[in-house]
Amino acid sequence: MRQLKLSKAFTLIEPGPVVLVTTCAAGRANVMTISWTMVLDFTPLFAFTTGPWNHSFAALEQQRECVIAIPTVDLLDTVVGIGTCSGRDTDKFARFGIAALAGPVLGVPLIEAGCAAWMECRLIPERHTEDAYDTCFAEVVAAAADPAVFADGRWDFRADNAALHTLHHLGAGNFARASDVIRAQPLQAA
Ligand SMILES: Cc1cc2nc3c(=O)[nH]c(=O)nc-3n(C[C@H](O)[C@H](O)[C@H](O)COP(=O)(O)O)c2cc1C
Repeated sequence: MRQLKLSKAFTLIEPGPVVLVTTCAAGRANVMTISWTMVLDFTPLFAFTTGPWNHSFAALEQQRECVIAIPTVDLLDTVVGIGTCSGRDTDKFARFGIAALAGPVLGVPLIEAGCAAWMECRLIPERHTEDAYDTCFAEVVAAAADPAVFADGRWDFRADNAALHTLHHLGAGNFARASDVIRAQPLQAA
Protein backbone atom coordinates (compact mmCIF):
# COMPACT_ATOMS: atom_id res chain seq x y z
CA MET A 1 0.00 0.00 0.00
CA ARG A 2 1.07 3.57 -0.60
CA GLN A 3 -0.30 6.58 1.28
CA LEU A 4 -3.03 8.44 -0.58
CA LYS A 5 -3.80 12.16 -0.67
CA LEU A 6 -7.06 12.67 1.25
CA SER A 7 -8.41 14.69 -1.68
CA LYS A 8 -8.24 11.49 -3.76
CA ALA A 9 -9.96 9.22 -1.23
CA PHE A 10 -13.39 9.62 -2.85
CA THR A 11 -12.05 8.00 -6.04
CA LEU A 12 -11.76 4.68 -4.22
CA ILE A 13 -15.50 4.24 -3.79
CA GLU A 14 -16.80 6.55 -6.48
CA PRO A 15 -17.48 4.03 -9.24
CA GLY A 16 -21.20 3.32 -8.84
CA PRO A 17 -22.98 3.72 -12.19
CA VAL A 18 -22.80 7.18 -13.67
CA VAL A 19 -26.29 8.66 -13.88
CA LEU A 20 -28.03 11.40 -15.84
CA VAL A 21 -30.28 13.63 -13.76
CA THR A 22 -33.01 15.42 -15.68
CA THR A 23 -34.95 18.37 -14.30
CA CYS A 24 -37.47 20.89 -15.57
CA ALA A 25 -38.10 24.40 -14.29
CA ALA A 26 -40.03 27.23 -15.92
CA GLY A 27 -40.79 24.88 -18.82
CA ARG A 28 -37.09 24.29 -19.61
CA ALA A 29 -35.73 20.78 -19.44
CA ASN A 30 -32.13 20.21 -18.45
CA VAL A 31 -29.85 17.28 -17.76
CA MET A 32 -26.58 16.82 -15.90
CA THR A 33 -24.16 13.94 -15.30
CA ILE A 34 -23.66 12.70 -11.74
CA SER A 35 -21.37 10.03 -10.37
CA TRP A 36 -21.73 10.75 -6.65
CA THR A 37 -24.79 8.77 -5.63
CA MET A 38 -25.78 6.63 -2.66
CA VAL A 39 -28.44 4.01 -1.97
CA LEU A 40 -30.33 4.37 1.32
CA ASP A 41 -31.58 1.04 2.59
CA PHE A 42 -33.93 -1.29 0.62
CA THR A 43 -36.52 1.47 0.39
CA PRO A 44 -36.53 3.41 -2.88
CA LEU A 45 -34.56 6.31 -1.39
CA PHE A 46 -31.35 7.70 -2.84
CA ALA A 47 -28.92 10.52 -2.25
CA PHE A 48 -26.85 12.37 -4.80
CA THR A 49 -24.41 15.22 -4.54
CA THR A 50 -24.65 18.45 -6.44
CA GLY A 51 -24.88 22.11 -5.60
CA PRO A 52 -25.57 25.67 -6.62
CA TRP A 53 -22.56 25.81 -8.98
CA ASN A 54 -24.66 23.71 -11.36
CA HIS A 55 -27.65 25.12 -13.22
CA SER A 56 -29.65 21.94 -12.43
CA PHE A 57 -29.56 22.73 -8.74
CA ALA A 58 -31.90 25.74 -9.06
CA ALA A 59 -34.43 23.52 -10.85
CA LEU A 60 -34.06 20.84 -8.19
CA GLU A 61 -34.62 23.42 -5.47
CA GLN A 62 -37.65 24.94 -7.21
CA GLN A 63 -39.45 21.88 -8.58
CA ARG A 64 -38.08 19.25 -6.18
CA GLU A 65 -38.45 16.58 -8.86
CA CYS A 66 -36.03 14.82 -11.18
CA VAL A 67 -35.39 11.65 -13.13
CA ILE A 68 -32.25 9.63 -12.51
CA ALA A 69 -31.43 7.63 -15.65
CA ILE A 70 -28.65 5.07 -15.95
CA PRO A 71 -26.84 5.44 -19.27
CA THR A 72 -25.19 2.56 -21.10
CA VAL A 73 -21.71 2.48 -22.60
CA ASP A 74 -23.27 3.46 -25.93
CA LEU A 75 -23.90 6.93 -24.52
CA LEU A 76 -20.37 7.49 -23.12
CA ASP A 77 -19.37 10.58 -25.12
CA THR A 78 -22.81 12.15 -24.66
CA VAL A 79 -22.62 11.51 -20.90
CA VAL A 80 -19.29 13.36 -20.76
CA GLY A 81 -20.61 16.13 -23.02
CA ILE A 82 -23.69 16.60 -20.81
CA GLY A 83 -21.39 16.79 -17.80
CA THR A 84 -19.08 19.39 -19.30
CA CYS A 85 -21.54 22.04 -20.50
CA SER A 86 -24.30 23.85 -18.67
CA GLY A 87 -28.02 24.26 -19.15
CA ARG A 88 -27.41 27.92 -18.25
CA ASP A 89 -26.45 28.57 -21.87
CA THR A 90 -27.11 25.31 -23.69
CA ASP A 91 -30.21 23.33 -24.56
CA LYS A 92 -28.53 19.97 -24.03
CA PHE A 93 -31.44 18.00 -25.47
CA ALA A 94 -31.03 19.86 -28.79
CA ARG A 95 -27.22 19.88 -28.69
CA PHE A 96 -26.89 16.13 -28.08
CA GLY A 97 -29.98 15.10 -30.05
CA ILE A 98 -31.66 13.55 -27.02
CA ALA A 99 -35.39 12.85 -26.97
CA ALA A 100 -37.17 13.62 -23.71
CA LEU A 101 -40.19 11.54 -22.72
CA ALA A 102 -42.49 12.54 -19.86
CA GLY A 103 -42.18 10.63 -16.58
CA PRO A 104 -45.36 8.67 -15.81
CA VAL A 105 -46.09 10.11 -12.36
CA LEU A 106 -44.63 13.63 -12.22
CA GLY A 107 -44.16 14.34 -15.92
CA VAL A 108 -40.45 15.16 -15.44
CA PRO A 109 -38.51 14.80 -18.73
CA LEU A 110 -36.74 11.47 -18.87
CA ILE A 111 -34.18 9.94 -21.19
CA GLU A 112 -34.76 6.39 -22.30
CA ALA A 113 -32.71 6.04 -25.52
CA GLY A 114 -29.20 4.85 -24.67
CA CYS A 115 -30.17 4.19 -21.05
CA ALA A 116 -30.63 0.88 -19.25
CA ALA A 117 -33.04 2.18 -16.62
CA TRP A 118 -34.57 5.28 -15.07
CA MET A 119 -36.19 6.36 -11.81
CA GLU A 120 -38.59 9.26 -11.54
CA CYS A 121 -38.04 10.93 -8.17
CA ARG A 122 -39.48 13.46 -5.77
CA LEU A 123 -36.94 15.28 -3.59
CA ILE A 124 -37.29 14.88 0.16
CA PRO A 125 -37.29 18.19 2.04
CA GLU A 126 -33.86 17.98 3.71
CA ARG A 127 -32.61 21.53 3.28
CA HIS A 128 -29.88 21.05 5.88
CA THR A 129 -28.02 18.34 3.93
CA GLU A 130 -28.53 20.28 0.70
CA ASP A 131 -27.01 23.42 2.23
CA ALA A 132 -24.34 21.85 4.42
CA TYR A 133 -23.25 18.87 2.27
CA ASP A 134 -24.61 19.61 -1.22
CA THR A 135 -26.52 16.34 -0.95
CA CYS A 136 -30.11 15.84 -2.09
CA PHE A 137 -32.31 12.97 -0.93
CA ALA A 138 -34.80 11.57 -3.42
CA GLU A 139 -37.71 9.15 -3.21
CA VAL A 140 -38.44 7.10 -6.31
CA VAL A 141 -42.07 7.26 -7.47
CA ALA A 142 -41.71 5.27 -10.72
CA ALA A 143 -38.94 3.17 -12.21
CA ALA A 144 -38.28 1.08 -15.32
CA ALA A 145 -35.39 -1.02 -16.60
CA ASP A 146 -34.50 -2.71 -19.88
CA PRO A 147 -35.18 -6.45 -19.41
CA ALA A 148 -32.33 -7.21 -21.81
CA VAL A 149 -29.87 -6.18 -19.08
CA PHE A 150 -31.89 -6.06 -15.84
CA ALA A 151 -33.95 -9.17 -15.14
CA ASP A 152 -35.42 -10.82 -12.03
CA GLY A 153 -34.53 -7.79 -9.92
CA ARG A 154 -30.84 -7.69 -10.77
CA TRP A 155 -28.34 -6.57 -13.38
CA ASP A 156 -27.52 -9.28 -15.89
CA PHE A 157 -24.31 -8.18 -17.61
CA ARG A 158 -23.25 -10.63 -20.33
CA ALA A 159 -20.97 -10.58 -23.35
CA ASP A 160 -24.00 -10.57 -25.67
CA ASN A 161 -25.51 -7.41 -24.11
CA ALA A 162 -22.23 -5.48 -23.73
CA ALA A 163 -23.68 -2.37 -25.43
CA LEU A 164 -26.15 -2.12 -22.54
CA HIS A 165 -23.60 -2.28 -19.72
CA THR A 166 -23.40 0.60 -17.25
CA LEU A 167 -20.61 3.17 -17.01
CA HIS A 168 -18.48 3.65 -13.91
CA HIS A 169 -16.43 6.82 -13.54
CA LEU A 170 -12.78 6.31 -12.60
CA GLY A 171 -11.77 9.98 -12.92
CA ALA A 172 -9.99 12.09 -15.52
CA GLY A 173 -12.11 10.93 -18.44
CA ASN A 174 -11.66 7.24 -17.61
CA PHE A 175 -14.59 4.87 -17.18
CA ALA A 176 -15.00 1.18 -16.48
CA ARG A 177 -17.82 -0.79 -17.98
CA ALA A 178 -19.66 -3.32 -15.83
CA SER A 179 -18.64 -6.60 -17.41
CA ASP A 180 -19.63 -10.20 -16.81
CA VAL A 181 -21.35 -11.25 -13.61
CA ILE A 182 -19.43 -13.48 -11.22
CA ARG A 183 -21.29 -15.51 -8.65
CA ALA A 184 -20.13 -15.95 -5.05
CA GLN A 185 -20.45 -19.28 -3.24
CA PRO A 186 -22.94 -19.11 -0.36
CA LEU A 187 -21.32 -19.31 3.10
CA GLN A 188 -21.32 -22.93 4.32
CA ALA A 189 -22.33 -23.77 7.87
CA ALA A 190 -19.23 -23.68 10.14
C1 LIG B 1 -18.44 11.75 -15.44
C2 LIG B 1 -18.96 12.98 -14.75
C3 LIG B 1 -19.45 12.87 -13.45
C4 LIG B 1 -19.96 13.99 -12.78
N1 LIG B 1 -20.44 13.86 -11.51
C5 LIG B 1 -20.94 14.94 -10.86
C6 LIG B 1 -21.47 14.79 -9.55
O1 LIG B 1 -21.52 13.72 -8.97
N2 LIG B 1 -21.98 15.92 -8.95
C7 LIG B 1 -21.96 17.15 -9.57
O2 LIG B 1 -22.43 18.15 -8.99
N3 LIG B 1 -21.45 17.30 -10.82
C8 LIG B 1 -20.96 16.21 -11.47
N4 LIG B 1 -20.47 16.36 -12.74
C9 LIG B 1 -20.43 17.68 -13.35
C10 LIG B 1 -21.78 18.17 -13.89
O3 LIG B 1 -22.42 17.19 -14.67
C11 LIG B 1 -21.50 19.44 -14.71
O4 LIG B 1 -21.07 20.47 -13.82
C12 LIG B 1 -22.66 19.89 -15.58
O5 LIG B 1 -22.14 20.83 -16.50
C13 LIG B 1 -23.80 20.52 -14.82
O6 LIG B 1 -24.78 20.92 -15.75
P1 LIG B 1 -25.86 22.06 -15.45
O7 LIG B 1 -25.10 23.33 -15.15
O8 LIG B 1 -26.65 22.12 -16.70
O9 LIG B 1 -26.63 21.61 -14.26
C14 LIG B 1 -19.97 15.26 -13.42
C15 LIG B 1 -19.49 15.36 -14.75
C16 LIG B 1 -19.00 14.23 -15.39
C17 LIG B 1 -18.49 14.35 -16.80
